[in-house]
Amino acid sequence: MKGYDKKVSSMLSGGGKDIPLFKVFMPESVLEPLRHVLFSGYIGEGPVSQVFESLLARRFKNENVLTLNNGTAALQLALRLADVGHGDDVVSTAMTCTATNEPILAQGANIVWADINPDTGNICPESVRKKITPRTKAIMCVHWGGYPCDLDELNQIASEHGIKLIEDACHAFGATYKKDPIGSCSDFACFSFQAIKHMTTIDGGALACRSKKDCDRGRLLRWYGIDRTQKRKDFRCENDILEYGYKFHMNDVTAAIGIEQLKYVSDTLRKHRANAKKFNKAFKNLDNVRVLDYQSDRSSSYWLYTVRAKNRIAFMKHMTEAGITVSQVHARNDTHTAFRQFPSDLPGVDTFVREQVSIPVGWWLSENDVSRIIEAVTEFDRL
Ligand SMILES: Cc1ncc(COP(=O)(O)O)c(C=O)c1O
Repeated sequence: MKGYDKKVSSMLSGGGKDIPLFKVFMPESVLEPLRHVLFSGYIGEGPVSQVFESLLARRFKNENVLTLNNGTAALQLALRLADVGHGDDVVSTAMTCTATNEPILAQGANIVWADINPDTGNICPESVRKKITPRTKAIMCVHWGGYPCDLDELNQIASEHGIKLIEDACHAFGATYKKDPIGSCSDFACFSFQAIKHMTTIDGGALACRSKKDCDRGRLLRWYGIDRTQKRKDFRCENDILEYGYKFHMNDVTAAIGIEQLKYVSDTLRKHRANAKKFNKAFKNLDNVRVLDYQSDRSSSYWLYTVRAKNRIAFMKHMTEAGITVSQVHARNDTHTAFRQFPSDLPGVDTFVREQVSIPVGWWLSENDVSRIIEAVTEFDRL
């Protein structure tokens, strides 16, 4: 394919710079299981997806896990299981991928923005508390860059009001909160296995539910509401459907990739964390570039390593000129036309957006890359 490599490099870095911000992790060892499934005669959702599901359940220390076709589907399904519908309110964060918030609109619900803590990028529990009304059905939080939100406080608010907490954990595979894996800490946690996540199934997702009841209902809803375990008169024709569902299930081809990827993900996470630790140490006393606030009671998956730069535009230019790809990764959602009907004052978001930039942190960095990044950041601080 002529010009393909050049095009790919430009798509990855916004201009083909030599240290990328993201990289697809794809071990050669996926080829054998993939070949097996592809020619097995069964490529839909079946036994391989079930194995992947049970392996995820073991990792999350939570039996109630559903594999899905992407993280957005996981968020939509969680909202549906939380009974979020027309005219309901969901308190959410603007500092995220639009995939967090579009499913709220798809459910016909209203978004009520809570502010974030600019020291972490995560939703602020005090702000959430102020935004709850009798119309609120759920709280949506996002673990920015993989750093867990204040889950004790958010769970407390949700339980006080008899509403659900949904975690968008699409950055946070492998993160832990007070030693518990993300995936076992709230009513719903939504994961993405999209191309550039710690582990990928090309596209894919998972939903971890607190209750078996929600998980059982979700299993029906992910496939048109059909109970695929029931005995049928005709093996191709479903029995009665109780409520409408979606086509959100995973398939055995992508699940085979997921099973293989899981073998490597602990090592991937270890590398992200080791690089982040070096950055935390190197940047802790800088004046113009600040590290985020990391509490010792939780462990980030460091999908992103975000810093706050006093002069962000100059910092981004300096890093780009040093051959290091940087980005703000997500634009604040509240200013998009699609969300403008929900205006709100968000000073924490204003501060964060003014300063936040993510620099490469992942498994693909060589020791030399890490040194180059540290040198470039500290050089900017000295300018
Ligand atoms: C915070 C966040 N939420 C949701 C999603 C959506 O996940 P997916 O692309 O698997 O649908 C993403 C995607 O990258 C994300 O970063």
